Amino acid sequence: MTTPAAELVGVSQRFGSFTAVDSIDLQIPRGRLTTLLGPSGCGKTTTLRMLAGYSAPTSGRILIDGDDATRLPPEKRNLGMVFQSYALFPHMTVADNVAYGPKMRKVPAAERRRRAGEALELVGLAHLADRKPKQLSGGQQQRVALARAIAIRPRLLLLDEPLSNLDARLRVQMRAEIRRIQSETGLTVVLVTHDQDEALEMSDEMVLMRSGKIVQSGAPRDVFPAPADRFVAEFLGYENFLTLADGRQAAVRPEHLRVLPADTSAATSADGGIVLDAVVLDVAYRGVDLLVTLEATDPAGNAVRLLADHRADTATGPTPSAGDRVRLLAPEARLAHLSADSTAAPTAPTTAPTASTAPTEGIS
Ligand SMILES: Nc1ncnc2c1ncn2[C@@H]1O[C@H](COP(=O)(O)OP(=O)(O)OP(=O)(O)O)[C@@H](O)[C@H]1O
Ligand SMILES: [Mg+2]
Repeated sequence: MTTPAAELVGVSQRFGSFTAVDSIDLQIPRGRLTTLLGPSGCGKTTTLRMLAGYSAPTSGRILIDGDDATRLPPEKRNLGMVFQSYALFPHMTVADNVAYGPKMRKVPAAERRRRAGEALELVGLAHLADRKPKQLSGGQQQRVALARAIAIRPRLLLLDEPLSNLDARLRVQMRAEIRRIQSETGLTVVLVTHDQDEALEMSDEMVLMRSGKIVQSGAPRDVFPAPADRFVAEFLGYENFLTLADGRQAAVRPEHLRVLPADTSAATSADGGIVLDAVVLDVAYRGVDLLVTLEATDPAGNAVRLLADHRADTATGPTPSAGDRVRLLAPEARLAHLSADSTAAPTAPTTAPTASTAPTEGIS
């Protein structure tokens, strides 16, 4: 097995009596894109800052390329970092911004011009090398910040919500761009986000955090259909929670709950799954589908409020309307069985401001 690009071993970060990161173990696989995902205040930035060396863990060890780097200052780690506010130097050209990191590392002038050119090529901005940052759009500035981090040839590229300042369309484009750059360069990337779609689309490996702890990690294809507990399920958009007859908890997504006529035979569940009698409370028109709110009794006898996406083009049976009695089918293959232990815990994110970061930290 190859050494991970970086590793956190029992790492904690305490601020006074508050534990922001709580004894996490994490391996960052080499040449892949890992995302840290979780609600505001769960410790993502704190984790990234410890990896980068801007703050030392209260306890635990950080290994980079297998070597203990726990006490190594940021400039000795050779990591590239892009913060949410990308903080370009306004008085320097794009090319000089990108060449800044190599310059600080005493790379000779010709070589750093070459590297800056290469990095700008990679992000598709070679033609804007002589502009100043204020003559660029937000998305272009974002790419310059990326190029600047890449130009130092980092062992690890750390990105803290790098797309959050961009509008929705540009954000989606930049996701693909970052993926392309990552696969072309083979860089190891750690990206922080609180956007589940971003994490699902971009990650080789996604790491879900909650209250300073890692609650689940794995490839999106493995995590998405099998959330470990209710917190992860809610975070990934599972809206419906049922207690089964044996007391276990299960979750199902609105798009997988089928609304059928009330007289549908229970044999429909022959392929496994759960059949519930329900009453339609509300139907909201959403263009491609109807969002149907229902009240049902789950297999354990609890009254539950459920949501179903009803797509008129693929659904069988009549269009539901408020007051209808219907039958719901949650196919077995679509049920996510949740572990019992953490389902009772509160799921509301703790609100917390992002730790402020000085602009110069972006250029280590
Ligand atoms: N320097 C600090 N002093 C005290 N508390 C801090 C400090 N930095 C962070 N915290 C607290 O630690 C917790 C984790 O903060 P962190 O910035 O890592 O969250 P985050 O997951 O990045 O959230 P967001 O998505 O809002 O950026 C928060 O409750 C925050 O208030
Ligand atoms: Mg943060």
